Amino acid sequence: MSGKTFFFSIILLFFAIPTSTCWGLVTSSGPFLPIPVQKQYDAKKATLGNKLFHDARLSKDNQIACHNCHINQLNGVDSRPKAIGPDNHIANYNTPSLYNSTLLYKLFWEGKESDINKALTYHIEDPTIMSGKWPDILGVLSNDVVISNDFKHSFKDGLTGPNVIDVLLNYLASLDYAPSRFDAYLKGNLTAISTEEKAGLKKFMDLGCHLCHQGKLLGGNLIMPLGVIFPYPENPNKKKYRVPSLRNVTKTGPYFHDGSIASLEDAVKIMAKYQTGNDIKENEVNSLILFLKTLESKLVKGEDDAP
Ligand code: HEC
Ligand code: HEC
Repeated sequence: MSGKTFFFSIILLFFAIPTSTCWGLVTSSGPFLPIPVQKQYDAKKATLGNKLFHDARLSKDNQIACHNCHINQLNGVDSRPKAIGPDNHIANYNTPSLYNSTLLYKLFWEGKESDINKALTYHIEDPTIMSGKWPDILGVLSNDVVISNDFKHSFKDGLTGPNVIDVLLNYLASLDYAPSRFDAYLKGNLTAISTEEKAGLKKFMDLGCHLCHQGKLLGGNLIMPLGVIFPYPENPNKKKYRVPSLRNVTKTGPYFHDGSIASLEDAVKIMAKYQTGNDIKENEVNSLILFLKTLESKLVKGEDDAP
């Protein structure tokens, strides 16, 4: 570890300890963990969740379904800088991918919610997202004989708000990514990634990217200021954001909470400069991206699988 990186690690420890229960990963068992082999979910509920994921009746005036923003064929994103909600209202944030979202420690770009049930209940009501009203949603769905029978088969109390969230969560749990080549490497297959990709991993660690992008998702478990080392001009007050997961990041642009960065090259350069204090060269950017490509993988399961 260079002197600069050491100094930077101390700064990060200062920021990280109060916000993360997972910091121990870095010192005890290494910064990264392989993705768990597929988590358990109830297949019947996941099928029903899939139906509702594509159902615009969860939104104001039946305008928009989850799938209009979290598009499976586009790796769970919509490729727009910011999401577009009901009445063509531009949302405040870029649409994140939902793959592996049930493994996130904090939800949403600012990490403002840690309970995924509450997060989804609110997300459906959020005027910038679906602007749904629960009594209206339950009213319209209970008039649909097929849906209401499906709920009766899965739940003793049939169709209720919490049960709608429950089936959506089972669907989200079915959308986890399969292990990537990097997972095979972490599990001991040393040839799963090439020499050039290993050089990219080394660069990632030498620069200190892993101090924030760590754990199972290489992100998702810390909340950190944007502009730790140098103030980021677009974020002069050092507002904090959840460190995003880097799994399949090569396929989920545009980047950052506001979708302000179109290319992965620029995202990596900005990170190196403002989060680690290093002006990196083109060949270093390319090397880091070679490593990020080892995190690519396909969905474990999902009705309309991502490419
Ligand atoms: C208008 C587009 C849009 C629709 C429709 C939409 N979402 Fe989202 N979703 C977003 C945006 C934007 C965020 C990030 C919001 C934030 O950070 O505050 C998000 C965040 C999430 C998250 C948290 C992910 C993370 O990385 O923290 C989950 C889970 C989620 N959405 C699930 C759903 C489900 C399920 C539905 C349908 C019931 C849905 N979304 C409908 C745009 C949308
Ligand atoms: C101090 C913590 C920290 C360090 C160190 C750090 N990052 Fe980040 N990273 C973040 C945060 C926070 C964001 C979210 C920024 C936003 O949403 O505006 C982010 C975003 C990203 C993104 C965009 C992801 C997306 O989906 O929008 C990429 C790519 C990335 N980082 C790669 C790296 C690389 C490569 C390094 C090392 C050169 C690095 N990061 C170092 C905290 C960090």
